[in-house]
Amino acid sequence: MNIKIKKILNKKNKSKVICLTAYSKNVASILDKHCDLVLVGDSLGSVLYNYKSTKEVSLDTMINHSKSVRFGVKKSLMVVDMPYNTYRNNKEALRNAKLVMNKTKCDAVKLEGGKKIISIVKTLVKNKIPVMGHLGILPQTEKKFTFKGKKLIEINKLIKDSKLLEEAGIFSIVLECVETKLAKKITDQLNIPTIGIGSSANCDGQVLVIDDLIGLNESKIKFVKKFGQVKNNISQAARKFKKEVLSKKYPTKKYSYN
Ligand code: KIV
Repeated sequence: MNIKIKKILNKKNKSKVICLTAYSKNVASILDKHCDLVLVGDSLGSVLYNYKSTKEVSLDTMINHSKSVRFGVKKSLMVVDMPYNTYRNNKEALRNAKLVMNKTKCDAVKLEGGKKIISIVKTLVKNKIPVMGHLGILPQTEKKFTFKGKKLIEINKLIKDSKLLEEAGIFSIVLECVETKLAKKITDQLNIPTIGIGSSANCDGQVLVIDDLIGLNESKIKFVKKFGQVKNNISQAARKFKKEVLSKKYPTKKYSYN
């Protein structure tokens, strides 16, 4: 087993798993020092490309961003999202997951879904492709973006799906917008770590989209906490640059060739 995956599994009931998304080398190299897992999420569709849905993200886009991220990630586990419509059956999933693993040199792939993708997960795991699961809100196929765990039928399905995914061989699972008590129930019944996003402190770890966390992306989502205000720093630097160019203070001799 990949030693980085082993490390993440060993954190269960001991220490929280720290995860963040990254879409490019420079940001990834900063996050690598602080994270256990760096995710190249298909959230890049909305964050970077202004797509209405992650459905529009292509495999090539994921591969290109992941190649960049790979240069920045040295110590963390690097996971890449398989985009929508790239894992509709075992054959397609295996072909595309192999492509992602080979081209990006990532450590694992992440797939959204429960019972419906069990056979696909088993196929990938059998072929030595580590898989991370994703339950709760499933952005690739979701119709209603409200938290999960209100109705009994929904609660039972999530509990069952998470167990099925664990039995199929996933090493960890993202729980997106899962109600607090349900997140605890799922976390308690699994031997693998649950990584929450909007799913309370009951999960074994947490993940956020980096652009939200640093205040680069305008986000009014309830679970997003801005831990930084990078937007202000960038704006300040751009303002200073403009001022110095207009006043001919920049570039001086120091910044010129002669
Ligand atoms: O696409 C993504 O960034 C994700 C995380 C938010 C979990 O799936």
